Amino acid sequence: MAKPFKIIQMDAIEYLRTIPDESVNLILTDPPYESLEKWRNVGTTTRLGFEKRLNEDGKKVVDRSKEQNWFVTIANERLEELLTEFERVMKKNSHLYIHCDETTRDILRPLIDKVGLKFWKSLVWDKRAIGMGYHWRAQYEFILFAEKGKRKLNNLGLGDLLPIKRLKGKQYYPTQKPLKLAQMIIENSSAVGDVVLDTFMGAGTTGMAAIRTGRIFWGSDVSEKAVLWTRNRLTKEIERLETKALETAEVQDQQEDQNVSVTEEQQAGTAS
Ligand SMILES: C[S@@+](CC[C@H](N)C(=O)[O-])C[C@H]1O[C@@H](n2cnc3c(N)ncnc32)[C@H](O)[C@@H]1O
Repeated sequence: MAKPFKIIQMDAIEYLRTIPDESVNLILTDPPYESLEKWRNVGTTTRLGFEKRLNEDGKKVVDRSKEQNWFVTIANERLEELLTEFERVMKKNSHLYIHCDETTRDILRPLIDKVGLKFWKSLVWDKRAIGMGYHWRAQYEFILFAEKGKRKLNNLGLGDLLPIKRLKGKQYYPTQKPLKLAQMIIENSSAVGDVVLDTFMGAGTTGMAAIRTGRIFWGSDVSEKAVLWTRNRLTKEIERLETKALETAEVQDQQEDQNVSVTEEQQAGTAS
């Protein structure tokens, strides 16, 4: 049986080069674009948050003097090579979904055509809450939808505006996507047992949704922490699903046992 997930700490393009042609059923990914840099003043990375420490009372407090890890962004000049590799590893008749903002959409759109994929449209993820900015604050994000060959969506009745509340509170990444959003896309563009790929895993949301819906997940990230988080999340999810399957099987066994004893009692009643 194929392993439910294979993940590695590696640059996306380097990792893609190790994947055979036409071996992936679906790509759903969320690269950190250069345009993210506008949210910070200096450097080439994006802020992940502040360090936490224990205060004198033993309570966890956020230390705003110590900015914690940053994640690196991918240069715009590498996007053509990235898309070329995506197209190569995609199976015939498969879909690609790629999160982006308005600035990067203008760069990605012509590249999608150039590498030979069919650009269908931008889905709009409505976060149901306002985000960063000081005027007309951001409430949506694009998810570009492209195709190799021809693949029918599993549910033709869904609209292109996806109203799913963005994550708040406890999460691994500031840009972490809701599981529900990833799940919706995966369920609509792949089948149980298919291989789903994300080369910018972050906290592993695509992987979680893939595993939860019975797909196989392949992924990479340059960050050691991202790989660790993803591995932990996916391993726990598999354990949870296995426990659930066992419990369901036990309930079914008990029901069958009950049915057998009822039938035996009935037979005994008819015989007497
Ligand atoms: C926006 S985050 C992904 C968040 C993810 N969608 C989630 O829900 O958790 C982007 C990730 O890409 C990773 N990354 C940046 N440059 C990369 C590269 N060249 N190759 C692979 N991963 C990279 C970063 O470390 C970061 O974890």
